[in-house]
Amino acid sequence: MPDIATPVVALDHVSVTYQSGPPWARLSHPAANDVTLEIAAGETVGLVGESGSGKTTIGKLVLGLLNADTGHVLFDGEPLARRRRRNADIQLVLQHPEWALNPFLKVGTSIAEPLAVAGSTTKKERRSKVGELLEMVGIEASMATRYPHQLSGGQRQRAAIARALISRPRLVVFDEAVSALDVSAQAQVLNLIKETQQQQGYAALFISHDLAAVRYVADRLIVMYLGSIVAEAAADVFYGRPKHPYAVALMEREDDPVTLGPPDGVTTSTGCPLAGRCPCAIERCVTDRPEMRVVLGQRVACHRADEL
Ligand SMILES: Nc1ncnc2c1ncn2[C@@H]1O[C@H](COP(=O)(O)OP(=O)(O)OP(=O)(O)O)[C@@H](O)[C@H]1O
Ligand code: SF4
Ligand SMILES: [Mg+2]
Repeated sequence: MPDIATPVVALDHVSVTYQSGPPWARLSHPAANDVTLEIAAGETVGLVGESGSGKTTIGKLVLGLLNADTGHVLFDGEPLARRRRRNADIQLVLQHPEWALNPFLKVGTSIAEPLAVAGSTTKKERRSKVGELLEMVGIEASMATRYPHQLSGGQRQRAAIARALISRPRLVVFDEAVSALDVSAQAQVLNLIKETQQQQGYAALFISHDLAAVRYVADRLIVMYLGSIVAEAAADVFYGRPKHPYAVALMEREDDPVTLGPPDGVTTSTGCPLAGRCPCAIERCVTDRPEMRVVLGQRVACHRADEL
């Protein structure tokens, strides 16, 4: 069960704007806009939204790979940048396991790497730990001596998860971790994430553009649109009946489709960022930015949430 009293990681009113182009023609890309969120030990937060909504940006912030322009990123209640923590406390699993598994090294060597880097274990201890982790992720221990290309795609992603978990991290960011897998491998890896989290109690940020995948793992859902959180709720409440048009559209419920117009990538500084695409938009949506409020147990930024 999530230990809500102790958020492992917290974003407190964080904003990030990327800059690109030469100094005389600077372009700004706002990617996180006043984002506040917390993830407790043992909790999985699902972060969903279309491409470009800022999900990976949030992942990089909690990994300490990106600094906030404004606001604070806290790990165990202390500023992440200043905290003297073990590097191994925060781990990342990406869409392509090749990132974690060196093609020229045996799988076991890549899995053991975080322990080898930490430097407090003997080779023998690492070998036995790798065997333990492989068993935990459902791969035969003998696979440790194989090379990544000798494993299936699903097995490689399991091995990447074993590598992320070998140092017992406090927080794991899964960024589109099952997006490249076929449906049955997806289900297996999602179950694996659930099981290992129950065993190890890490906090998890599960990033995906696919609401169906998130459904199996997330305790809580956060929906982003163009850098802003527009909806947040416990997963069971959310999947029962989302109270935000964008969340409804992402779910593509057959009984109640809300189809958004094409992305316009435009946010007005005054109105709702979705005003140009939302089929539910009314005049007020163009002029007033909806505040976050609670409607039937869901936090939503929408003027019409009560009517959905
Ligand atoms: N290094 C960068 N320089 C400039 N703009 C960037 C940079 N990285 C991301 N962006 C922009 O910031 C916005 C958010 O990007 P981000 O990668 O966080 O989105 P995402 O939700 O993870 O998308 P996807 O689902 O495609 O992975 C996008 O508009 C993107 O183009
Ligand atoms: S505030 Fe208006 S435009 Fe924004 S999501 Fe709600 S109905 Fe749609
Ligand atoms: Mg991304």
